[in-house]
Amino acid sequence: MALEGPVPGRHKIVLENRRILLIVSGGIAAVKVPDLIRRLRERGAAVRCVLTESGAQFVTPMSLAALSGDKVFQDLFSLTDESEMGHINLSREADIVLVAPATANIMAKMAYGMADDLATTALLATDKPVMIAPSMNVMMWEHAATQANLATLLDRGIHIVGPGAGDMACGEVGNGRMAEVADIVAALDGFFKSRREHGPLSGQSALVTSGPTHEPIDPVRYIANRSSGKQGHAIAAALADLGAKVTLVSGPTQEPDPAGVTVTAVETAEQMLTACTAAKPFDIAVCAAAVADWRVADSTTSKIKKTGDTPPALSLTENPDILATLAKAGKDRPHLVIGFAAETENVIDNGSAKRNAKNCDWIVANDVSAGFGGDSNTVHLITEDGADSWPTLSKQAVAERLATHIADHINKS
Ligand code: C5P
Repeated sequence: MALEGPVPGRHKIVLENRRILLIVSGGIAAVKVPDLIRRLRERGAAVRCVLTESGAQFVTPMSLAALSGDKVFQDLFSLTDESEMGHINLSREADIVLVAPATANIMAKMAYGMADDLATTALLATDKPVMIAPSMNVMMWEHAATQANLATLLDRGIHIVGPGAGDMACGEVGNGRMAEVADIVAALDGFFKSRREHGPLSGQSALVTSGPTHEPIDPVRYIANRSSGKQGHAIAAALADLGAKVTLVSGPTQEPDPAGVTVTAVETAEQMLTACTAAKPFDIAVCAAAVADWRVADSTTSKIKKTGDTPPALSLTENPDILATLAKAGKDRPHLVIGFAAETENVIDNGSAKRNAKNCDWIVANDVSAGFGGDSNTVHLITEDGADSWPTLSKQAVAERLATHIADHINKS
């Protein structure tokens, strides 16, 4: 019988591209944090650190910055921090907030909702899951006050890893040692895995299109658009995070493949349609790609030469409409088909008209008069009930909100 060993790359897949906001408070175990950052980054996670004043007594901001490859945030009132990255954004642009080490003091502040420095303010402002890795002297850990605070935090759904038992830096022996780095990594891994396995979209399959298409003129030239693929990729990741089995069909982009998503890379609209058809059947379709409306009718296999004075005329022909094709009534029509409408005027009216014209269930309409490709999006979700206008959000937040709406809809229908 073959011996069961660790599955190579298992952690890597789950933690890849995860954004971890690591809050380092002041315990001797902070000396383990550089190794923790190294291990998380090895698995493809992005780590951004917030260092408390007492944490900085044990580990330097410079070493955390060097290992995380990012700025270390320390000051609540630093104007630079506030203008570049407010504490609200800091706490929300992460997939999870990890407090390691978590001292008795920071646990108490969390339990009472205090916000007297950047770390506690970010913890109070976050809408993301929080995990703590407690680290303190055994008497402090066992103290009724700490245990009461712990109960409050657990009751609020905060995740915990450790503490373990053993020799402590203070010379005493007992509970309170911060979990080992490998155990913290495994706890994060387990958190993301269990969210996928038990998420509200588990058992559902989804197709997402993303990015631009490139329509060849000849072997070296093509017609394209400025779509970055950020929104479509974020939607694929958000659906996967809620447990859906996701296929992402993407045109050429600079975006990394979202973790745990099957990605098919294509270039042209026709290839995109073929890949989408091959991925059938699926329960949910989200067409976020900026598919070229036309392709060159007679693209050549050899490079067009500059000859004479007359520039070559390009004759265009219409591309297949992938969204309309998927939304066509039929026995394999997905349960929910969602399209995007990038508009420069009358955003809601044009979005509603598109919803009817393409027979899709929902349209996410956005104003692109300021251009494509930014990090935020201001959208209106148009359904049979009308238009719901969302505030300007990061593309990731738009994706998470849309995925939550999809899960709510699927689970009540
Ligand atoms: O017609 P328009 O391009 O404005 O429609 C936008 C919506 O239709 C988007 O959801 C886009 O992904 C989808 N679309 C498509 N195939 C096309 C053109 C648009 O799937 N050829």
